[in-house]
Amino acid sequence: EWRRHREDVTVSLQDLKRLPQCNIRLGHLAFSRTHTVLIDVDIYNCERQLRAQDGRDIWQSNFVKMPCSMSSVINKTGFTMQTERKLRWTVIAKQLAKLAKKPSATVEDVEEAIMKYNPKYKGQWSFDALSSFVKCIPKTENYFSPLFPKIAALALNLPGYIKKAIPLLQRGHTASITMSQVQIACLLANAFFCTFPHRNTSGPNAEYHNYPSINFTSLFGNWSERKKEKLRAIMHYFNVVTNDDTKPTGLVTFERRFLKNTDIPNWRGSQELMPKLYVTSHGTIENDGTGMLQVDFASHWIGGGVLSSGLVQEEILFLMNPELIVSRLFTEKLGDNECLIITGSQQFSIYSGFSDSFEWAGPHADHLKRDEWARLQRQILAIDALHFRHRGEQYNMIKVTRELNKAYCGFKGHGHDEPDIATGKWGCGAFNGDPQLKALIQLMAAAKAKRGMALFTFGDRKLEEDLQQIYSLLVQKEVTVGKLYELLEDYCSDVHRQRGSHMELFDFIGNTVGGHRSLL
Ligand code: AR6
Repeated sequence: EWRRHREDVTVSLQDLKRLPQCNIRLGHLAFSRTHTVLIDVDIYNCERQLRAQDGRDIWQSNFVKMPCSMSSVINKTGFTMQTERKLRWTVIAKQLAKLAKKPSATVEDVEEAIMKYNPKYKGQWSFDALSSFVKCIPKTENYFSPLFPKIAALALNLPGYIKKAIPLLQRGHTASITMSQVQIACLLANAFFCTFPHRNTSGPNAEYHNYPSINFTSLFGNWSERKKEKLRAIMHYFNVVTNDDTKPTGLVTFERRFLKNTDIPNWRGSQELMPKLYVTSHGTIENDGTGMLQVDFASHWIGGGVLSSGLVQEEILFLMNPELIVSRLFTEKLGDNECLIITGSQQFSIYSGFSDSFEWAGPHADHLKRDEWARLQRQILAIDALHFRHRGEQYNMIKVTRELNKAYCGFKGHGHDEPDIATGKWGCGAFNGDPQLKALIQLMAAAKAKRGMALFTFGDRKLEEDLQQIYSLLVQKEVTVGKLYELLEDYCSDVHRQRGSHMELFDFIGNTVGGHRSLL
């Protein structure tokens, strides 16, 4: 009965704000205690040139341990049984230089090089996916043999391209890193050649156990159709960035944001009304939400399974915008009140399908404008929802509040003119969330952050219709965020009382707010 004769008060997509319409004045590019810039800011501000910022290597637990560091050594036992200490980069550079000189290289050449400086993993690392991939691509499209040497040459530039130590974006701290797209390409070329030290072991005692993997080993083994499409996207990226005519020319910022206790909203007492909402079952976040704050349905390990077998929203996003992958090098596992925002990454490819039907569909020419810091006007917000093994677990106010804070941490602006949010069924695929509950949670967080929202239901017509109706009711009845929070509390208790045979959330709220038995 709550659905009847209600005027639709959702807005149209044109009513939402995108980056080009925001008047954000960045001023000069500057570094600070919490903002590391890997290019020389004076040269950038005067001449718009991108030159590596001078600095020194730091071999410490709060910085990325670089393969070209003077502290990275390999212990080699020779014939005399004496241990010889060798600079790891000497070995790496020799191998990469050998490859880079060749006009074309095979997968065996790549494997041989990688294993020379990762001898511990002989017999453990497999390159079957990479070699099956190269074999199965038709000769006419097979540009890989000349590409491998170019990736090696790019990786070899590391000491000259990145001179300043890269801080780790650690748990509990708000901090950001800005670097050039060429620096990112060079770091990713190193990840391709598996050069990053101390990053090949996992397990609780591993030094980087709290960080995602970065070396590409897991991408090269375990052949599957998925791997084929992933490798097409990755190789296409390297093909573009190693070509002088198409090399990217801007900067990208990675910002880890930590919501302090004092910034956590008092949800129950919140007086905000519903924000602007556009809801549709057509289109996608990345295409139709261009220029908005685009939500990445993330894993707390940023990038999730992009380098292994995962292939849903986050992994696809990272394959279309491979620069995002570099965040795995320095982003510690996200905590409950944290998120990562990436500004300026470039889209290199387009795709079709999803999960097992995913296919790399070709190159993408990115025509977005750049901001004052030469960053493409694209903002991606990584927030990780909770993974519910049983659906019933989520109807619990501790969990609901965790999700509210997580979304708010990402949606909260810096207080100036910011774009609206483009999102969808966050946490409702692999993570098993209830799309109705997650839609309301995101609306509440957007209201608190004073930003409008576009929600792409990805073909879910029912959610589109239901959300449009419940939203219109909430607006009409002037239901506040605080009131909605109380309704969620009631719903959660109800679900526990009913033990599984409960009604849908929107029906519960609809009946309470708008039905004959209206309690308001
Ligand atoms: N635009 C809009 N909606 C989309 C899009 C898109 N481009 N792609 C998918 N959807 P899922 P989760 C819809 O499962 O549940 C990854 O491994 C589609 O209906 O990716 O938060 C991460 O690394 C889909 O079912 O997100 C995490 O480990 C729904 O969004 C984990 O998955 C949810 O997408 C996160 O899983």
